[in-house]
Amino acid sequence: MVDRDDAAAHRLLHALANRRSFALKDITSDPVDRGAIAQLLEAANWAPSHGKTEPWRFVVYSGAARQGLSDAFGAAFRTLNTAQPVGSAGELAQSQRVWQAPVWIALGMQPSQKMPEWEDLIAFGSAVQNMHLMASALGLASKWTSGAVVLHPSVATAVGFAPDTKLYGFFYVGHPAIAWPAGQRRPVAAKVRWVDDHADV
Ligand SMILES: Cc1cc2nc3c(=O)[nH]c(=O)nc-3n(C[C@H](O)[C@H](O)[C@H](O)COP(=O)(O)O)c2cc1C
Repeated sequence: MVDRDDAAAHRLLHALANRRSFALKDITSDPVDRGAIAQLLEAANWAPSHGKTEPWRFVVYSGAARQGLSDAFGAAFRTLNTAQPVGSAGELAQSQRVWQAPVWIALGMQPSQKMPEWEDLIAFGSAVQNMHLMASALGLASKWTSGAVVLHPSVATAVGFAPDTKLYGFFYVGHPAIAWPAGQRRPVAAKVRWVDDHADV
């Protein structure tokens, strides 16, 4: 049992509201230290999972090792765009992305076969959210990026995921090149219906 701590709750809400996604153009190329990335991974590992399945799987790329990802993104683009010539602007854009953030983490979900897959998937999403919260708390600029190229099965193979592990994109991390952006949400009241006597809330 943890005692009620209003100050901690206030800080938590602040951390939740200040978790922010950054475009690649808003990230510097300065490296991120390994200890910070280890903190992100530790935070992710504290996500809940029904049946303790812990289905999240990660592969961390940094430095020159990003070349493997660059090649994988370029190859996936070519597979998806056979009408375009080799070395097209689109292919180059995909293969160059990896150099715009110093760390790229492949996000995988290995279904447990023990619980319904949707439960494992939600647990996995919670792990990525934890990772993102820790990144923002450390002042790091990051984003979950998906899309046809990075999700392509050939990319999952290239990062070395087991055949049953599904790739759900990448989480890139770096240092912000801009002032920390403000978040925006539509009011929660529009998404909630109270069926008790809390109508004044
Ligand atoms: C599963 C998932 C996939 C996402 N994929 C992309 C993406 O491919 N490109 C992108 O610009 N943002 C992507 N985002 C980030 C959202 O655009 C972002 O969370 C949203 O704009 C709210 O901004 P915030 O994270 O700063 O609160 C993704 C977010 C989630 C949860």
